[in-house]
Amino acid sequence: MKVLVTRAVFPEVIDALSKRFEVEHNAEDRPWPPAELARRLQGKAGAMATVMDKFDEPILAQCPDLKVISNIAVGLNNIDVPACTKRGIKVTNTPGVLDDTTADLTWSLLMAAARRIAEGDAYVRRGDWKIAFGVQYFLGQDIHHATLGIIGMGRIGKAIARRALGFDMRVLYNNRTRLPEADEKRLNASWVERDRLLAEADFVVVMAPYSPATHHMIGAAEIARMKPTAILVNSARGGVVDDAALVAALKDKRVAGAGLDVFEGEPAVNPGFLALPNVVMTPHIGSASRATRIIMCNTAAANMTAVLEGRIPPNAVN
Ligand code: DGY
Repeated sequence: MKVLVTRAVFPEVIDALSKRFEVEHNAEDRPWPPAELARRLQGKAGAMATVMDKFDEPILAQCPDLKVISNIAVGLNNIDVPACTKRGIKVTNTPGVLDDTTADLTWSLLMAAARRIAEGDAYVRRGDWKIAFGVQYFLGQDIHHATLGIIGMGRIGKAIARRALGFDMRVLYNNRTRLPEADEKRLNASWVERDRLLAEADFVVVMAPYSPATHHMIGAAEIARMKPTAILVNSARGGVVDDAALVAALKDKRVAGAGLDVFEGEPAVNPGFLALPNVVMTPHIGSASRATRIIMCNTAAANMTAVLEGRIPPNAVN
């Protein structure tokens, strides 16, 4: 059977797959435009893909041999899952293996924005640091004993909350379903209405998956509820936050700062962010530790292999 790996992955993953399948992979790591993706998918039974590869109905219609799309991601917003189901194509993802790594990155952004790490780094590199110490240099915000608000309390949200225990924070969360009481106790986290969370949190972390229902879930109205001293962190998905509304609020100092790993229309970034020193940005690297990316690739390979060998994949979505 033939399979396609749409981006560069680790050589050992390709080697292992090659023992079972005829593998075509994207060694150049240049994302393929839809027409090229469809062309390369001809005759392929499996695709190991990333969030950059859009599998919508027009693509699926051109790939009659496709049996499985194995996303190297937990997010699935690049795949029209109902359309896959209709066509009998299995979809799999990599839940669980990236929670701690993504929580670490979320905390890195939170801390960098609160303590102005990127600004300080640029200042030192530019050679602007002329006087060794100043009582009012780069005043930031305390993280310890502050209030953390988490919107979206799935596995990653919980991993973020666990880390807050070490900072003696008050943790508020909003989620469609409330956690069992024992989990709330263990995480020292209280469920509150979203508006209350926005009004009380010093740090608002968005951790909801993208879907039409969560599009601009944090928009101008939600941002307006936040404290002017608050910091917004989005390491979930571009589009969950209305980036234009956030830029406007940051410019008018209606919020204090932001830590962003994901953007609407990435890799394009709203140019408004680039001019704002109180925004810390990373290029969608939430799960990008070497160890975790290897586990994600191995998980995706195991999912694809299971489907093509007629077994139930560990992480079936449909
Ligand atoms: C995910 O797993 O969804 C990450 O965003 C990587 O794509």
